[in-house]
Amino acid sequence: MYVSRPIVKGYPLYLFHAPARYDNFFSSMVDKTPLSLPRHIGIIMDGNGRWAASRNLPRVAGHKEGAVAVNRIVTACRERGIKVLTLYAFSLQNWVRPAPEIKALMSLLGHYLKSERRTILDNDIRLTAIGDLDSLPDSPRKALFDLIVESKDNTGMTLCLALSYGGREEIVSAARALAVRVSSGELDPAAIDVDVFSSSLQSSNLGPLDLLIRTSGEFRISNFLIWSSAYCELYFFDKMWPDFQPSDLDDALSSFSSRNRRFGGIGK
Ligand code: FPP
Repeated sequence: MYVSRPIVKGYPLYLFHAPARYDNFFSSMVDKTPLSLPRHIGIIMDGNGRWAASRNLPRVAGHKEGAVAVNRIVTACRERGIKVLTLYAFSLQNWVRPAPEIKALMSLLGHYLKSERRTILDNDIRLTAIGDLDSLPDSPRKALFDLIVESKDNTGMTLCLALSYGGREEIVSAARALAVRVSSGELDPAAIDVDVFSSSLQSSNLGPLDLLIRTSGEFRISNFLIWSSAYCELYFFDKMWPDFQPSDLDDALSSFSSRNRRFGGIGK
């Protein structure tokens, strides 16, 4: 079942929390001077299948090349001082894909976590994850939790993998958790506001999304961080995810720094 916090056997919940808390989720955002660098970037890494098809390769070859792109973009974000990077690696809806493709994706995930372990630790990156993590196969799940534990004290950047993740399901789960607190008498319904609701979300500790990047020429959010993307800036690329380069990231960052974020106000 999808849970509002990753209740994972044998692992304390704090391991899945980014160091900083963002309880005053939106109210804290309004007064801030717009930063030229986004604090939290989310990426919908789309187009692996089409990248492969255009080369007459099996879809899995596109995912493998997509994992290579993950390596270089994680490093590039770290080098540029991004504090939180959330990658949409597998959605809850992706489970309907053919079993061999799911198997290959899960195996790639396990392989990535092992092969990039040193890069993550040496670069002071803290790994975390959101989604229905208990639904992952044992091997990548163990590799994921091991690295989450090993990297928990790192502070340079938080890398969050959205795995078996759905934004609407995350919101429903938070609503359910709040309803339980209300029905037990612990919480007054009148006390539920945007900040209280935000802090009940599994992704709350990542803070609001500042910049959402999607590759492959599609203009959709696809159930990714739909709550925390409320005021994010959007940047779409035509190119497929395996072709995504650090210079593309720089283009998105440059565009972001020129945006006038008003959060409903009248701006500067
Ligand atoms: C979307 O492209 C991509 C995915 C569903 C999986 C993303 C996975 C990776 C980038 C590699 C593995 C991840 C990690 C973290 C190591 P698509 O398959 O929907 O492409 P299409 O729209 O062209 O078919």
